[in-house]
Amino acid sequence: MRLKTCVATLILLVCCATARAQREATPVDTLALTPPMGWNSWNQFEWEVSDSLIREIADAMVSTGMRDAGYRYIIIDDYWVGGRDTRNRMFPDPVRFPHGMKALADYVHSKGLKLGIYSDAAELTCAGVTGSLGFEEIDAQTFAEWGIDYLKYDYCHAPTDRTTAFTRYKTMGDALKKCGRPIVFAICEWGGRSPWLWAKAAGGHLWRTTYDSRDGWHSGDHNLTGIMDIFDSQEGLERYAAPGAWNDPDLLMVGLYGKGKSSSPDSRFAGCTDEEYKSHFALWCMLAAPLIVNNDLRNMSEFTRQLLTNRHLIAIDQDSLGRQGYTFMRSDSLQYLRKELSNGVAICVFNRAATPQPFTFDPVKDADILYPADVTNAWTGTVSRKGALRGTLPPHGCEVYIYKRKAK
Ligand code: GAL
Repeated sequence: MRLKTCVATLILLVCCATARAQREATPVDTLALTPPMGWNSWNQFEWEVSDSLIREIADAMVSTGMRDAGYRYIIIDDYWVGGRDTRNRMFPDPVRFPHGMKALADYVHSKGLKLGIYSDAAELTCAGVTGSLGFEEIDAQTFAEWGIDYLKYDYCHAPTDRTTAFTRYKTMGDALKKCGRPIVFAICEWGGRSPWLWAKAAGGHLWRTTYDSRDGWHSGDHNLTGIMDIFDSQEGLERYAAPGAWNDPDLLMVGLYGKGKSSSPDSRFAGCTDEEYKSHFALWCMLAAPLIVNNDLRNMSEFTRQLLTNRHLIAIDQDSLGRQGYTFMRSDSLQYLRKELSNGVAICVFNRAATPQPFTFDPVKDADILYPADVTNAWTGTVSRKGALRGTLPPHGCEVYIYKRKAK
């Protein structure tokens, strides 16, 4: 009897020790618990990336109030790589980045910001410079030594099947986990292999769900991915978003060209009206999308600055519950979205029509918001008591209301 008790106690002690060791050995991944916010060089600058541009963008991120509004990552997209040295370590293009990446990362960090970089799960990137295939560990190690905080990992020049994609992404995901520095892993295979089903298991914190977005409302006759095309393709993906794992409907086009004001490099990219940019931003916040802007922060209009720093909308996007919003009601050209929040719910009433549209919304009848709540209008910041709402939405415009549960 005594022997049995001793053996049982021993087994119990061993089990407890093993469980504790496992807990200690598996560090909890606390990266990207809310959708990453930042700036990316792609649409606006493409091959024009350089050390001086990134430093100027970092300065502008601070002086415009973008950093204080929550934008943190400055992500250098394609074209930064110079090649591999004799030890197989990547080095940056010496003309574009003459001071090296470590010095640039130090500068960006000194501003209270983080630095992101780009590579590809093949031998070459989309732009045809050196990619990471076969060098994942050494590249992850190099990025860590430079002080990189975020890796966007593309899929040009790679086989199309899902198994290869998973294997290639997991190889880099594992290398990042071992590199000794927390690095957000952004998977970019454009949604074709349903990455929402496997990207998290490959170590991804966010995954692109679409091809590149362009500064236009919808594709129309043109061969581009307009904002509405992308928005519509997100339906049903809400169940895959959670803290640390986000659907990424690509960059924000806010403040790029602007309809009619266009300095657009390509006539197909018609730009958007201010009202369309407002809806674009609001819809991405409702979707808990990563908020990665790519306009030139050094020359930003006050309209764009105010929109991108709207604290009510950013709070919706960054809510700690980490739920993606979804459409719960349609009526003619009106589309109603809801996003659960840690202390209530956000509702967006969106007018898809190119003409003004009247709307009504009853929180109790239409959305089962039964509890007492204060209602904040995300555009004006005005707070009112819960009750039926009505108004008129401008063409392609929206209203966003935050129903904050009142303490009993
Ligand atoms: C695409 C990617 C873009 C950009 C570009 C760079 O594949 O979707 O966001 O990174 O490559 O060449």
